[in-house]
Amino acid sequence: MKDVTLLAIESSCDETAVAVVRNGRQILSSVVNTQIDVHTQYGGVVPEVASRIHVENISIVIKEALKRSGLTMDEIDGIAFTIGPGLIGSLHVGVLAAKTLALAYNKPLIPVHHLTGHIYANAFVDELRFPLLALVVSGGHTELVLMNEDYDFNIIGSTQDDAIGEAYDKVGRVLGLPYPGGPKIDKLAKEGKPIYHLPIPKTEEPLDFSFSGLKSAVMQAISRLEKQGVEVKVEDMCASFQTTALESLWKRVDTALRQYDVRQFILAGGVAANSQLRKMTEERIPRDFPGVSYIIPPLAYCTDNGAMIGASGYIAYQKGIRCGYDAEADPSLEMI
Ligand code: KG4
Ligand code: ZN
Repeated sequence: MKDVTLLAIESSCDETAVAVVRNGRQILSSVVNTQIDVHTQYGGVVPEVASRIHVENISIVIKEALKRSGLTMDEIDGIAFTIGPGLIGSLHVGVLAAKTLALAYNKPLIPVHHLTGHIYANAFVDELRFPLLALVVSGGHTELVLMNEDYDFNIIGSTQDDAIGEAYDKVGRVLGLPYPGGPKIDKLAKEGKPIYHLPIPKTEEPLDFSFSGLKSAVMQAISRLEKQGVEVKVEDMCASFQTTALESLWKRVDTALRQYDVRQFILAGGVAANSQLRKMTEERIPRDFPGVSYIIPPLAYCTDNGAMIGASGYIAYQKGIRCGYDAEADPSLEMI
């Protein structure tokens, strides 16, 4: 089969990212320009600031990714790009860049749903085996996705309120940690013990998630301890929050794996970078579901990047998914 090399653009939130990916599995280059340092000053992503920085950086990141791949535009078969969901202003920049490149170099345009990118980042490690269950955990989403074949996405559980990454970032703020809270809590939790009791969030549907109550429970626990004049140990609170949040996640994973007969379990999204979640997967899947294989995406490709869009874009390309120059960013795009 002929090789397919895609240039892939991701700009849905606070990373300007471009990669060149061959056959959805081989990363020829991947450049990620993160804006985290800027947004940290504000305690979170400021959408207007994010889109302005994307505008400043997108051409530079595209040029750099192409240069590092050692290829010219002549050797690129198509332009894959994130069309949604995400911040509208941020998405716009990537969409416009993709359309401009496609028009200038006469290349097909392949629209990609951001979360499918997170899912296909696993293809850099191993072949996906269907039916599979994906746990998609990011700053904007918490979903259990059942796939019977490539590009068949069935959401069987989702969050009723906050996404898990959002909960990490909000709890981080409550604890006075810089944005984003997720990686910091992960690190501090290793130095602490889960000594504070926090209630495991409950939901009406067994496969749905809820995290806003847990964030409030952390706040209440802190104010209770402060009133008692007891010093709150940040490391212990991080360990308590993380253990409760991840046990609540895992309960749904466990239920879904008992309910659906799948061959593989995969992690996807920024929170898949979490060391405790990766460890739980490595320990519990072989122990409790010996017939199920698992993949954990490479650490560098858990948070937003262009390569994952190239991986998902490759499958979309093979399926004939294309769009025209009139394609527009969709901030609340549903997974098909
Ligand atoms: O996928 P992503 O880069 O952006 C979205 O699509 O949302 O995910 C970012 C989220 C943030 O909420 C961040 O705090 C969280 O992923 N995150 C982590 C870790 N690394 C990133 N959460 C927990 N532990 C980590 N190690
Ligand atoms: Zn993401």
